[in-house]
Amino acid sequence: MKERIDKLNQKIEEAKLGGGQKRIDAQHAKGKLTARERLDILFDSGSFEEIGMLVQHRSTNFGLDKQKFLGDGVVTGYGKIDGRLVYAFSQDFTVLGGSLAESHAKKICNVMDLAMKNGAPIIGLNDSGGARIQEGVVSLGGYADIFYRNTMSSGVIPQLSAIMGPCAGGAVYSPALTDFILMVENTSYMFVTGPNVVKTVTNEDVTAEELGGADTHAAKSGVTHFACENEVDAIEHLKQLIQYMPSNCEEEAPRLPYNSGNESRPTLNDVIPANPNQPYDIRDVIQETLDSDTFLEVHKDYAENIVVGFARLAGRSIGVVANQPAVLAGVLDVNSSKKGARFVRFCDSFNIPLLVFEDVPGFLPGTDQEWNAIITNGAKLLYAFSEATVPRVTVITRKAYGGAYDVMNSKHIGADMNFAWPTAEIAVMGAKGAAEIIFKKEINEAPDKEVKWKEKEQEYAELFANPYNAAARGYIDEVIRPEQTREKLIRSFEMLENKAVSLPRKKHGNIPL
Ligand code: HXC
Repeated sequence: MKERIDKLNQKIEEAKLGGGQKRIDAQHAKGKLTARERLDILFDSGSFEEIGMLVQHRSTNFGLDKQKFLGDGVVTGYGKIDGRLVYAFSQDFTVLGGSLAESHAKKICNVMDLAMKNGAPIIGLNDSGGARIQEGVVSLGGYADIFYRNTMSSGVIPQLSAIMGPCAGGAVYSPALTDFILMVENTSYMFVTGPNVVKTVTNEDVTAEELGGADTHAAKSGVTHFACENEVDAIEHLKQLIQYMPSNCEEEAPRLPYNSGNESRPTLNDVIPANPNQPYDIRDVIQETLDSDTFLEVHKDYAENIVVGFARLAGRSIGVVANQPAVLAGVLDVNSSKKGARFVRFCDSFNIPLLVFEDVPGFLPGTDQEWNAIITNGAKLLYAFSEATVPRVTVITRKAYGGAYDVMNSKHIGADMNFAWPTAEIAVMGAKGAAEIIFKKEINEAPDKEVKWKEKEQEYAELFANPYNAAARGYIDEVIRPEQTREKLIRSFEMLENKAVSLPRKKHGNIPL
């Protein structure tokens, strides 16, 4: 018996060594952790259980018969994060570059299947040279098996991807099918084709970092939701994110205990500048209204004219969507519509109530926007809100102009409660533009056109640049003093706690993609 146990221990040690100490040292020298070190940080201490440690590939091509490693380049299993069950796979770059082939893919599929059957989130820690070249088509098949499971799991269990090394070729599509992507600055990249192919095909000179590094995908493409300083920071973000989510679509997100106190927030009374065209930072409103220090902003560096993220309100997990007057006056454009729509759909899939702060002058005009399909993309946000059945509340802080009034979670498209601050301006358009159109004749015939225009602008503003016409029709449920916002929201979400709405029977809708 002792000999057998010694042999087992030896195998376990061998598996833990991955591709060998030299390769582990090389990984550390690049500022990267190993697959197991990452899992150690991710899971509650001692809670991780590995599955398939002794799996090996069975290829004999190109000398692979002499290069067999226990585990085949990926560590898979399950454990607890803050006491909750989560499944994970962590690719081991020290073994054949973390490349993915038959056995490696099967291990990943196995934990994905377990996560689905048991209704728990799955986290992928990606660090791989892509399809294992020596194994040919089975590598491609392995990817497709994963893509299929990603799609089937979408909306059923949360799926999170951290990119902690190379992620190239078709390998990018598994993370792209998951709910959130986190990248590590300077040591990770994602692209469909690398710089060499780009140079050959388009003659562009570009570095891997410029083409697909964390900053590029966080700010330019929006592929990643978070650019993290280092791997530990990325793992901390993963843990934080998980706290705001339920384990699956049948459950509610965990709620933190909350003792109610004085919910009045008088500083909110001074947020809106006297000049309606002056910007302010909507994050100040979010921070002041929601539970202190709970706002986890998502997609922070992308389409900054809209702010989205998770926060807590009286301990409850809430998805926040807010126009950002400090960037492009908070206008809706192609990218902000896509960003908002994706976040709304995630929250709705996982029963996370939605809170909207609205200050939007409308959709951004121009050829760039029209030719990049602001019509189709704006419709994404409209569709996402209209379809959402979670509790939905809007606070209009200032402008709610034009189609953007409809889109930003108005009651007409299914929001449950709409509040407005006294500074709200709810109208078809701004007073200046409106006066120019409807009083064109009068202005042109006036002895002093400028004076007449100002006079008509004033007349229009007095009639429409306020929340009371909308309130008179019940489009706004209550005009509130800003200081009351937090209390009103706590009560509203409490009131909506058991909201139950079902969509018309259908296979699935056809969101304008
Ligand atoms: C097999 C691979 C591999 C791969 C790396 N290795 N990628 N083995 N298949 N795809 C091995 C290397 O041979 C090397 O083994 C070890 O991993 C470390 O690789 P290095 O090149 O020494 O590391 P580094 O310099 O850090 O470069 C990392 C890299 C580079 C940039 C990822 O290895 C690389 O370009 N690899 C190929 C990437 C690629 O084209 N993959 C296929 C993409 S197409 P030794 O034994 O020498 O240490 C694809 C299709 C999927 O993925 C389609 C799905 C739809």
